[in-house]
Amino acid sequence: MKKVEIKTQITVFEGIEELPEKAKKLMLQAFEAKKDAYAPYSKFRVGAALLLENGVVVKGNNQENAAYPSGICAERVAIWKASSEFPNVKIITLAITASSSSQIVKEPVAPCGACRQTLSEYELKQQQNMEVYFMGEVGKVIKTDSLIDLLPIAFDKSFL
Ligand code: THU
Repeated sequence: MKKVEIKTQITVFEGIEELPEKAKKLMLQAFEAKKDAYAPYSKFRVGAALLLENGVVVKGNNQENAAYPSGICAERVAIWKASSEFPNVKIITLAITASSSSQIVKEPVAPCGACRQTLSEYELKQQQNMEVYFMGEVGKVIKTDSLIDLLPIAFDKSFL
């Protein structure tokens, strides 16, 4: 038996102003997307914006449902929209932001496990890293260079 250490890497920015220009613009698009979130139950609004290699930005936001599990996260709305409209165009960057009606979200809001699994599928498919920037409403922004940093031991097609 042996213990194996797995390292992942993140970059922490002090705020949106510190982001590279392209990433900042994309994050502002995620803020735009968040405005149209349908989150009447959690009142937790999430916006996502994807930059494709052809320069197109695809936006998404969380869509809730009275039957709670039928709702879906912003990241999956955005990536499925991108994959269905631009199936063969690579995704360069994803930006995510979130806010709540009950408090100011100051900590970066990381994508949930199911979203990580979904995003990981498309990173593998495109054989190119997907950068992910995520934040709350204000404050620090975290960046990962690859989905591997968010989901180091993933289930993928190699098991099938
Ligand atoms: N949510 C997202 O949109 N993305 C995540 O990664 C985490 C959670 C949404 C789902 C639900 O509408 C609300 O946030 C509260 O969980």
